[in-house]
Amino acid sequence: MTPAAEADWRLFRGDGVPRAVDLPPAPPWRRFAPAAGGRPELPYLIEPKHADVVNAALHLRRPLLVTGPAGTGKSSLARAVAHELNLGTLLRWPINSHSTVREALYQYDAIGRLRETTLSRDRGERQPDIGTFIRLGPLGTALIPNGTPRALLIDEMDKGDVDLPNDLLTVFEDGLFEIPELTRLPEDVTDVEVQTADHRGTVRVHKGRIQCDEFPVVVITSNGERDFPPAFLRRCIRLDLPVPDEERLRAIVAAHLGEEALREADDLLQAFLRRRAPGELATDQLLNAVFLRAGGVDLDAEGLLDAVLHQLTGAL
Ligand SMILES: Nc1ncnc2c1ncn2[C@@H]1O[C@H](COP(=O)(O)OP(=O)(O)OP(=O)(O)O)[C@@H](O)[C@H]1O
Ligand SMILES: [Mg+2]
Repeated sequence: MTPAAEADWRLFRGDGVPRAVDLPPAPPWRRFAPAAGGRPELPYLIEPKHADVVNAALHLRRPLLVTGPAGTGKSSLARAVAHELNLGTLLRWPINSHSTVREALYQYDAIGRLRETTLSRDRGERQPDIGTFIRLGPLGTALIPNGTPRALLIDEMDKGDVDLPNDLLTVFEDGLFEIPELTRLPEDVTDVEVQTADHRGTVRVHKGRIQCDEFPVVVITSNGERDFPPAFLRRCIRLDLPVPDEERLRAIVAAHLGEEALREADDLLQAFLRRRAPGELATDQLLNAVFLRAGGVDLDAEGLLDAVLHQLTGAL
């Protein structure tokens, strides 16, 4: 690397001297700001036999349960399907230990409504509509009858409570849910405008019920930290994504960073393959290494390659 390029790469030098730095462009998969053109649509490569499992789920209108080691493209698959089939912005429901089906369907801000109602009464103004305080969650928004299905990613389902899969069964079966706060309203209030999860505005709910017309394209991912009950598994189509072989890795690198970056990175690919055992290295770690190499970084420098291609399992 030339001294000038080396100075560019070493943004932080640890010498305590404050300086103005221009951050070089981020890798395409780490771009967020609208100023930088927003998130670019990233290439997604899938073997035909795996694409056919996706197709089976699409035809059967069943959720697709995607398993496989870290970084094998489980979450990205949902975005790729939504993009390719023009299903609109992907709705995301990231699961954690507190996730509930109820909050994924809708949230009701009772305290906000009480406060606003009191305020407007004091000011002699018209009371705000109840729909202002109801926001559909990602699952609720996915079930809005729309003529075409929406795409929903239920990410890392195995991080959720043990009851979560069973709680989803009825919604998966019927494509229907009710908002009791609306079903309890007086008979003459039949339609209420509520907010949607993607902040795109409102949707009219009739008699407090939402019934999908096309079941959404649902992709559920799991890292296999928990088994799911048979009743839940029966309702899903299973896709187990393997770690990509050398040929597929080459194709993924070329698609993300170009043929030239791939040609320059053969030793990195070999190092990646040598170090990799299933679940211990992820595809994007190779992409990170090739990205740095393409930017002129000396990855043979002590410890740098180990820092990028670090193992994902075992004690740190
Ligand atoms: N088949 C693929 N085609 C293109 N890029 C891929 C593919 N698989 C993985 N990648 C790259 O690896 C990154 C990680 O993929 P993704 O987040 O989908 O993995 P994951 O299986 O959901 O991992 P985790 O279990 O850690 O959540 C993606 O952003 C993408 O850059
Ligand atoms: Mg993921």
